[in-house]
Order: sequence, then C-alpha cells, then structure tokens
Amino acid sequence: MRTFIIRARKGPTRFERLRSNIGAKDHFEVVAHSVINAFFTSNGFREDVEMYIILESSEDFPRTIKLSGNEGLSIAGFHEEAVLELVEKALKESQGLQKDETKIIAKGLQITGFGFEKCVRQLLETRPVYLLDRKGTDIRAINLDDDPVFILSDHLAMPKNSIKGLQRHGLKTISLGKKMLFASQCIVLINHELDRAV
Ligand SMILES: C[S@@+](CC[C@H](N)C(=O)[O-])C[C@H]1O[C@@H](n2cnc3c(N)ncnc32)[C@H](O)[C@@H]1O
Repeated sequence: MRTFIIRARKGPTRFERLRSNIGAKDHFEVVAHSVINAFFTSNGFREDVEMYIILESSEDFPRTIKLSGNEGLSIAGFHEEAVLELVEKALKESQGLQKDETKIIAKGLQITGFGFEKCVRQLLETRPVYLLDRKGTDIRAINLDDDPVFILSDHLAMPKNSIKGLQRHGLKTISLGKKMLFASQCIVLINHELDRAV
C-alpha cells in the first residue's frame, strides 16, 4: 500500500464552497489533480493507493476524507469534475458529523471529523511517514520502507510548528529535487519511484 496525504489548508468543509474554489485563489484544483495522479494510469487504476484529503477551512473542525483504492473506490473519470463530485458527496452526506466521528459514504470513501495532526499521528503508529520538502533528504539517497505514507501540502507552505512534534514521533523529510513542484507532480514522481523499485 502507498498512501498520500494532501493537506488542503484552504479546502472548504462546506460542499457549497467547493466549486468556486476551482481556478480561484484557494485552488482546489490542486487537490483534484493530486487525486487523479495518485490513482489513474493511462489504462488502469491503482488499487494499492490510499489518499487522505484534509480540508482545513472550516467553521468548526477539519474533515479528513479517505479514498481507498483497494476497497472498491469508484472515481467517475480522470477529470476535475469527477473528484469534485466525490468530495461534494462525502461532505453533503456527512452533514452533522461530530468531531472524531467517522462515516462511510460509499465503497472506498469515508470521512472523519478530525484534521492533519491526528491523522498523521495515527498513521505514524504503524507506518513509515515521509514529509515532502525540497530541503529534505534526496528520495534516491534512502531506501523507502514498506507501506510508505507521503505528506504534501497544497499550494500553501506546510506550517512548521505542526511538523516539529511529528518529527519527534518519527516523521522523516524527503526531497524530489530543488525545483518547487505542484503536489500532483510530486505524486507522479513518487509513484514512478515506487513503480520502478518493484
Ligand atoms: C506547490 S508546493 C507548496 C508551495 C508553497 N508556496 C511553499 O512555499 O511550500 C506543494 C507541496 O509539494 C511538495 N513539494 C514541492 N516541490 C517539492 C520538491 N522539490 N521536493 C519535495 N517536495 C516538494 C511539498 O510538500 C510542498 O509543500
């Protein structure tokens, strides 16, 4: 299993606000492109991929949407609209969700009422977790452990204060080179590295 976490700092938890974020200053298209590149190949769908979309622009608490390729996840196509539909569905059908509550929306699609730190802390208990950062250790200079988890931010920088505590719990930092890439481009490169290592 390979897992991606995308921290959408401006990702809205109200479904009515999603569409206006595409192509606008909050850039939800970054999340859509990341999902597409995590799961789709030209003629296939990666069942060994999971993705957590963390939506942090909220009036109460963040939401974490989990997409699981090996649990029958269905994405209607490899375009932005298909990802929007999925996220909208999860938000619409979980109105009234309580903090820390999880609701299964469809096969391979669930939503939980918590955010970045809790999600990463839980994964760190059982999985190797890597933060993507240009200043980290070159991905080709290390051997990635099995079942890795990769963390990316959207178009905004990852806040440093939330990372320090996680590093004490084993979070490692890896780099894909000096150029600042889109999160979706990082996902393509990570999938490529892992595909080649098999
Ligand atoms: C578009 S970038 C974020 C840009 C943001 N303005 C900043 O200064 O961090 C999105 C995310 O992709 C990852 N990323 C981009 N380029 C990278 C690289 N060369 N190596 C590792 N991760 C990278 C990082 O996780 C980054 O937070």
